[in-house]
Amino acid sequence: MRFIGEKIDESIDQFLKPIEKYWQPADLLPDTTKETFIDEVKLLRESCRELSYDYIAVLIGDTITEEALPTYESWLMDMDGIEQGNPHGWTRWIRNWTAEENRHGDLLNKFLYLSGRVNMHAMEVSTQYLIADGFDIGTGRDPYRNFVYTSFQELATNVSHRRTATLAKQAGCNQLSKICGVIASDEMRHAKAYKAFVQQIFEVDTSEMMLAFEDMMRKKIVMPAHFLRETGVKIGETFSHFSDAAQRLGVYTTHDYIDIAESLLVDWQIDSITGLNDAGQRARDYLMALPTRLRRVAERTKIPALEYPFSWIA
Ligand SMILES: [Fe+2]
Ligand SMILES: [Fe+2]
Repeated sequence: MRFIGEKIDESIDQFLKPIEKYWQPADLLPDTTKETFIDEVKLLRESCRELSYDYIAVLIGDTITEEALPTYESWLMDMDGIEQGNPHGWTRWIRNWTAEENRHGDLLNKFLYLSGRVNMHAMEVSTQYLIADGFDIGTGRDPYRNFVYTSFQELATNVSHRRTATLAKQAGCNQLSKICGVIASDEMRHAKAYKAFVQQIFEVDTSEMMLAFEDMMRKKIVMPAHFLRETGVKIGETFSHFSDAAQRLGVYTTHDYIDIAESLLVDWQIDSITGLNDAGQRARDYLMALPTRLRRVAERTKIPALEYPFSWIA
């Protein structure tokens, strides 16, 4: 961590945007100080009318996932090799990454509030529950496992925000499409950063990095909102309905999971990495065979057609 952390200032410049030059949620929402505010809100609400029930459910789930950022920041801050008292190095990366991410929940939340389609109280209850319940992503405090997780997760959020952007456009909701689009592009930059960290670890600690990658894929990458719940609903149950809605819409599917896993194999050139010990070789064999195996299983899995009445939707 110290070795990679030496180049962290470079990484911040390369993968994050300067605060003063970048968008803020207010830039993409009606301006409350303007006379035109009420009219803009009316238009916004009208543009949301055609969005389907599943779409609204998925957008709310995505928003709550973003709003649970305190969980993610505190989790990363607890990784081995992070010294919170030292404002430089890794601490600086995590804080700057968090600061960029923080805008995602803010922006989506405000949009949903204005949309008129959401029971905000119910949504806020779920957000508070999710932060209170935390998550368990199977990484422990190990940075190798955490960076596999974050590489995967940033790609997964890129896919889902990109798809909600496309669907919003098709429904004639251009403002929402733009919102989801700018968030998706943040996620892609973040994915590039975390993938670069893993790449650097592969160069200096090849076998251990391979074993960490294998371990995470064996456990399966759980989504950060896997503990999602509503009032009176058991932990995790709401998440599975949210995930079904995302599968039905094609916003994030089992096939996307497999494609992301496969793209990581390609990006990290897993097939041609040299210098592995025996355990590392076996881990590589497992990883290389994984996409084909998962695809066989995916072909047999059916997506539940049942729409579930979320308490979040007005
Ligand atoms: Fe995000
Ligand atoms: Fe992200």
